[in-house]
Amino acid sequence: MSAEQLFSEVYSTKPQVTSQAWGRVNLIGEHIDYNGGMVLPAPIGRFINMAVSPSDTGHDEIYSNIFDGLSKRDVGCPAQGVWSDYVVGALNLAREKGLYEGNVRVAIESDVPYGAGVSSSAAVIVATFRALAKLNGEALDGVQIAKWAQIVENDYIGMPCGIMDQMAVSMAEPGSAIALDTDSLDFSIVDLPKDYHFAVVFSGVTRQLEEGRYAVRRQECEAAAAALGVEYLCQMSDQQIEQIASLEDVLARRARHCVSEHQRVLEAINAIQAGNMARFGQLMNQSHVSMRDDFEITVPEVDALVETSVEKGALGARMTGGGFGGCIVACVAKDNMSDWISAVLAAHPKAELVA
Ligand code: GLA
Repeated sequence: MSAEQLFSEVYSTKPQVTSQAWGRVNLIGEHIDYNGGMVLPAPIGRFINMAVSPSDTGHDEIYSNIFDGLSKRDVGCPAQGVWSDYVVGALNLAREKGLYEGNVRVAIESDVPYGAGVSSSAAVIVATFRALAKLNGEALDGVQIAKWAQIVENDYIGMPCGIMDQMAVSMAEPGSAIALDTDSLDFSIVDLPKDYHFAVVFSGVTRQLEEGRYAVRRQECEAAAAALGVEYLCQMSDQQIEQIASLEDVLARRARHCVSEHQRVLEAINAIQAGNMARFGQLMNQSHVSMRDDFEITVPEVDALVETSVEKGALGARMTGGGFGGCIVACVAKDNMSDWISAVLAAHPKAELVA
């Protein structure tokens, strides 16, 4: 059912505007978007669709058939740890910034899996800003939307994320990835290879980054940067990088992941532009090892899925997203995709092909 149909069914009237935003997969560059690093996310062919109308009920009404059902929320109410928070956070900020006044009715229809590391939350927030801008007849710049969406996550939801997901959801185009400098927000669009598919496979392990493990990694990175006397771990000179060895073990490993992951992204961008997917695959594999051993954000199910993916013929595979479960991404020759996915799913019955 479309978001428009859903809206009509729930509110017995037609919506005034609709908006859309896709989920994303990060091809390489994990946990470095808050360390001044380069990342390479791409949209997946899964969408959040939203239908919205102004309302004079005195509160906001948000309906979703996959998340919380119908939520009635008061203007300015605090986050409640439910999905409508993402819409409410965006509404609150939009009112604060003068983008929109008044109440709304919202219906959300989505096939972006939740808690799987493909940015369903960023997609909901970005789609909300897009819809509000439409209601207000304003053309909002995509980078502005991404920045606001990050503020909603950081300040309203309490998730101390970087800006990769919001930029990917707001700025990238299907069929391409976005090579994003997360410090300057400069980016370029990188075409994806025609003969290879970046398959996204859900491990079956759902996670919630607000649980706190993500925040702990961020704190560890900040502690490592402070001990090294630098602003960002991904922007250190060779001399500063040598000092990592003087840190205590855990901080040294966190810093080593950030430095090596940033280097891998730079190399991966060159490799994909040169059509060298074998090299790209190797870098994905190395990225996974670094997340597993140095950054310690993988879980056994995800490690096993990555291993099987490569064993069954992917050029490379790695966990993608914040970690502690969620999805892997694997680079697979399109000709081999159907045999490959059958073999992978046979070995991992709880896994699911997402894109
Ligand atoms: C989550 C966060 C992003 C990023 C990734 C890890 O998706 O929202 O900002 O840090 O984890 O790369």
